[in-house]
Amino acid sequence: MKTDFLWGGAIAAHQVEGAWQTDGKGISIADVMTAGTKNQARKITDGVLPGEYYPNHEGIDFHGRYKEDVKMFAEMGFKCLRTSIAWTRIFPNGDEAEPNEAGLQFYDDLFDELLRHDIEPVITLAHFEMPYHLVKQYGGWRNRKMIDFFTTFAVTVMKRYKDKVKYWLTFNEINNQRILDNPLYSWTNSGILYAEDDDKLETMYQAAHYQFVASASIVIEGKKINPDFQIGCVLAATPNYPLTSDPEDILLAQREDDQQLFFTDVHVRGHYPKRFIKEWERRGYHFDMTEADVDILKAGTVDYIGITYYLSNTVSVRPEAERLNDELLGNETIVANPYVESTEWGWSIDPIGLRYYLNLLNNRYELPIFIVENGFGYADRFEDGRVHDQERIEYLNQHITQMKLAVEVDGVDVIGYTVWGCIDPISFTTGEMKKRYGFIYVDRDNDGKGTLNRYRKDSFEWYRHVVRTNGKSLR
Ligand code: BG6
Repeated sequence: MKTDFLWGGAIAAHQVEGAWQTDGKGISIADVMTAGTKNQARKITDGVLPGEYYPNHEGIDFHGRYKEDVKMFAEMGFKCLRTSIAWTRIFPNGDEAEPNEAGLQFYDDLFDELLRHDIEPVITLAHFEMPYHLVKQYGGWRNRKMIDFFTTFAVTVMKRYKDKVKYWLTFNEINNQRILDNPLYSWTNSGILYAEDDDKLETMYQAAHYQFVASASIVIEGKKINPDFQIGCVLAATPNYPLTSDPEDILLAQREDDQQLFFTDVHVRGHYPKRFIKEWERRGYHFDMTEADVDILKAGTVDYIGITYYLSNTVSVRPEAERLNDELLGNETIVANPYVESTEWGWSIDPIGLRYYLNLLNNRYELPIFIVENGFGYADRFEDGRVHDQERIEYLNQHITQMKLAVEVDGVDVIGYTVWGCIDPISFTTGEMKKRYGFIYVDRDNDGKGTLNRYRKDSFEWYRHVVRTNGKSLR
């Protein structure tokens, strides 16, 4: 691995910071999501309601304890920390003319603390936390006005932190919203809850178009602020395997991959793939898409591709295949893969899928790739101040091994690797604490009880070793 390889960890503001109303912060879309479980979906409520429990309000109090946490990241030797800037700390409602100075100051302090420890901040601009006001007032990303609101926010923080942050990411997992039958994804990506009479697909593509234009505008504006900026996109990278050699299965898997890669195609190539233009014509879709938009997309292509990688999917049309009926994804073609195991939350464990997909992306785009999330959600056992999380070590070890093969054998240009939830965060999909990812255990449970004290798990020392040896020596 190159000596400047960016080993580190990843978190997102709304899943860790808490302090949901501190220093003038506004309500975000994450602040109206209740806690759920593996079997019970999080509710999205109409405002913050009394009697409901909203786990993101307190998070793990990273806002109050970041100095202690950054010190532990430094102890592990992190070269970088990926986190997001909570839009609502900077523009509490999203449509103000002037930013909130107290919010800006918080990130100045956080970034200074990181840099003092030689940890480079890698910053996501939109990680499921847009201002709730923009949903109520404007309909979220249904509305073209969002392009200006979001660009104003992005330009404000890019100017403010131009000498502190080099790596930026525009929209986290922008492709999640193609999962149309689970409201979680249209909500967190775009602030949209579909109405009965919505053509979901058409609405989704229109919202995505506005986001593509916003992302490209930010690339264009960002380069004016600091030509050294590296600005990337984020793809939730989930390989789709055909279950059998039935040509229908092969075509289905390719179609699933194409729908996912549609998003990186636009970010990287700066125009829409022909297959989708054909599909829109067939369906009679007419989008609000101007000539100026087309020029912006062309001019604002990304410098690198950020990916999050957790699992692979297997798909099939075959009637005998065992359907997973995955409630989270709502996709009936997803079937069990007899060759991989799954986590307690039903996510397949497929390290080779990471190598496969890195190669696929490299072949398609030939751009640097940053693995901005990979991690193992597990119900850790906390005993006498210790967590023996050998399962996490195994998972990460296997994935890093496959990443190294992609780099050293296949020649893929991977510039960094950040482990998701390096300190236990609130789970995004379920709102639980029980689904833990960290090297650092946080004493808090699903009901929000606990001291919030931090403890090093066994994986803490293991990852310190990985970083110190630049991934050379893995157990
Ligand atoms: C990614 C998100 O989808 O996966 C993170 O970018 C999220 O925000 C992570 O936390 C893991 O998902 P979960 O539901 O296990 O927290």
